[in-house]
Amino acid sequence: MTGYGRGECAQDGFKVTVELSSVNRKQAEVSVTLPPKTEMLEAQIRAGVLEDGSVELLRSVGLGARLDKYRRSHDGTVIAWQDHAPFLIDTMKYTGRKMTAYGQTAITEDLYRIRESQAGNIVDDARHVVLTGIDGDEPVIAFEKDGKARTVACDFIAGCDGFHGVCRPTIPSGVLTFFDRSYPFAWLGILVQAPPSSDELVYAHSERGFALLSMRSTEIGRLYMQVPPDADLKDYPDDRVWRELHARFAIDGDWKLTEGPVLQKNLAPMRSFVAEPMQYGRLYLAGDAAHIVPATGAKGLNLAAADVRLLSQAFADYYSSGGTHLLEQYSRKCLRRVWKAQRFSWWMTTMLHRFGTDNAFDQQRQVAELDYLTGSHAAMTSLAENYVGLPWD
Ligand code: DHB
Repeated sequence: MTGYGRGECAQDGFKVTVELSSVNRKQAEVSVTLPPKTEMLEAQIRAGVLEDGSVELLRSVGLGARLDKYRRSHDGTVIAWQDHAPFLIDTMKYTGRKMTAYGQTAITEDLYRIRESQAGNIVDDARHVVLTGIDGDEPVIAFEKDGKARTVACDFIAGCDGFHGVCRPTIPSGVLTFFDRSYPFAWLGILVQAPPSSDELVYAHSERGFALLSMRSTEIGRLYMQVPPDADLKDYPDDRVWRELHARFAIDGDWKLTEGPVLQKNLAPMRSFVAEPMQYGRLYLAGDAAHIVPATGAKGLNLAAADVRLLSQAFADYYSSGGTHLLEQYSRKCLRRVWKAQRFSWWMTTMLHRFGTDNAFDQQRQVAELDYLTGSHAAMTSLAENYVGLPWD
């Protein structure tokens, strides 16, 4: 969460988005509170696929150097389907743009570094964050830091504190409309000390369930597989995970799954969620505070970056000319793009996963979807342009 203009600001759950906006607004006095750095960086392994536009955005705010050194760029992504030849969603061919693999934790480190180099005020590990006066002219953030109560008077609050943060629930009931869908599966993810088995990301549809091969660097691979929504990690020792991944990736192709030590293992629920509007008074929601997508297609981080890009433009306009037009447009403009990404993430998810309730009709429908995709230039273009990222505005 970021306060704009004066004072400090507070946050209970870090989001990359906060920092993007504050990097953009160097001249405003902004401070950000975060959980302890190490705790956060060692916590959940997060997504790591960036749309072309997100890469441009990171470069434009001075975060390009390490990204350009370590990112892995991809001309496309492979979809593999049991009993069918794997095919490439060739984003380069259909859109002229590439995808980039670069971990969210690496972006977080870059953001810390740039804020520290600007002597930006970052408050780690604020507790008991409460917002008041969000419908007035001077919202206040109260929090506890090292046992001491502190308050911060703000011009605006950017609510980038994630799905479980305090910002969205602070908005009075009845103001927001919620749109929600859950899925009958979760993803189990592992981070592996081994060079990625394939040069491209591979999404696999198998009768045993979905699996995904991704990567973080030349040394570190990232793999996911569909598991029941109530799965317990203790039921998934490494050997079971590898057995299952081998079975799901038993597909034609010029690569073989390479095993390596499992560095981390986590579970991620799958959910679609939107809260509308993304603003109340002087509180502006961004990223997961306002919307969640199921992970298939890797839109979450990219959507958060897109929100903050608009929000930082609106703040910049306000502070340079006093204009409020962009602030007024913020929610409407974000939501147009958010809903398209929701549609795409839902579609990728339903195409590639096994649903417990699927009957023979549903299975044939999935195969027809694949057949259509591989046989139609128009369908491939549509998939590629959504995957690589729709235009910002
Ligand atoms: C990754 C995550 C995704 O949700 C996806 O669709 C592709 C890759 C990843 O973490 O690398």
